[in-house]
Amino acid sequence: MNLYPLLRPLLFSLDPETAHEVTLKLLNAAHASGLSKLIYPAIEDKPVRLMGLEFKNPVGLAAGLDKNGDYLDSLAALGFGFVEIGTVTPRPQPGNPKPRLFRLPEHQAIINRMGFNNHGIDHLLAQVKQSRYTGILGINIGKNFDTPIENAVDDYLIGLRKAYSSASYVTINISSPNTKNLRQLQQGDEIKSLISALKEEQLKLQQEHGKYVPLVLKIAPDLTTDEINHIAKLLLEFEIDGVIATNTTIARDMIAGHPLAHEMGGLSGAPVKDKSTAVVRELTAELNGRCPIIAAGGILSAADAQEKIAAGASLVQIYSGLIYKGPQLVEDIVKSL
Ligand SMILES: Cc1cc2nc3c(=O)[nH]c(=O)nc-3n(C[C@H](O)[C@H](O)[C@H](O)COP(=O)(O)O)c2cc1C
Repeated sequence: MNLYPLLRPLLFSLDPETAHEVTLKLLNAAHASGLSKLIYPAIEDKPVRLMGLEFKNPVGLAAGLDKNGDYLDSLAALGFGFVEIGTVTPRPQPGNPKPRLFRLPEHQAIINRMGFNNHGIDHLLAQVKQSRYTGILGINIGKNFDTPIENAVDDYLIGLRKAYSSASYVTINISSPNTKNLRQLQQGDEIKSLISALKEEQLKLQQEHGKYVPLVLKIAPDLTTDEINHIAKLLLEFEIDGVIATNTTIARDMIAGHPLAHEMGGLSGAPVKDKSTAVVRELTAELNGRCPIIAAGGILSAADAQEKIAAGASLVQIYSGLIYKGPQLVEDIVKSL
């Protein structure tokens, strides 16, 4: 039963951040009452084996919607093949001042400058422990806004150590445009030393825990071809387990003239699709199947997801599409793949 077309006008009449909170609370209530089983019948399995993990289907929830793991069970009930929570930082932080989230329905797009608002990794891990979710769980880690960029690796190491035993995979987010200088970590020697430190730690943790947890790097759609090639070489050199392409874009040419185009932050949804797909294509050419690609960016239909797979992705993730199309999108994509 697709209730979203009825619900969407109501939600879109609220300011975006309130709508976000209301939706998640509704989802929790529907789940707790058992109603979500009626509204969202189970989606058929389309298993994918990747990074040593078994995904029940190739459609995941992208990071940022459930930053604290507060809605894990309810979101999983929508039929995702995997759920990524976070970005979470070592210490809690409030994020940027409001307003920091904008809807651009004319473009099926969102601009956000949330700035990693989250309750800290200890809270997230407690939520994961409490949840009943047994599917593939990605924990996406970042750095606190007040950790100097030259010490960023310390925050990622804290995140990796803490998340290791609870995560199916850990995502290193160095591509949010809303934390000052964060994207600088995607370049030159900075990315090399970050990846090398995290890989070393991953192997230590593997020994300690007797379990291998894959490391995935999440990159921006605004990288040059040289930067993408540099990252691809490092992914192979350090045997990083996967790459997510992409985060939101700082470009605005696709929405030029829109009254909200000047708002600072990351643009997602339909306008980022082609840019993200181009990154997937360039990665595919460089990686040659040796490091799996998870595509995110502007997937609003089954055809959009197919385009990502055709470009070389093995899995897809959605965020803005869920806001514009509702949970039916998950089933539509799974069926089509
Ligand atoms: C409101 C909002 C918050 C986001 N927060 C995060 C985040 O905390 N960490 C992250 O890695 N990506 C974050 N993203 C990026 C998404 O995970 C995704 O990579 C991007 O939006 C492109 O996919 P889409 O076009 O389907 O939204 C956020 C996106 C939105 C719209």
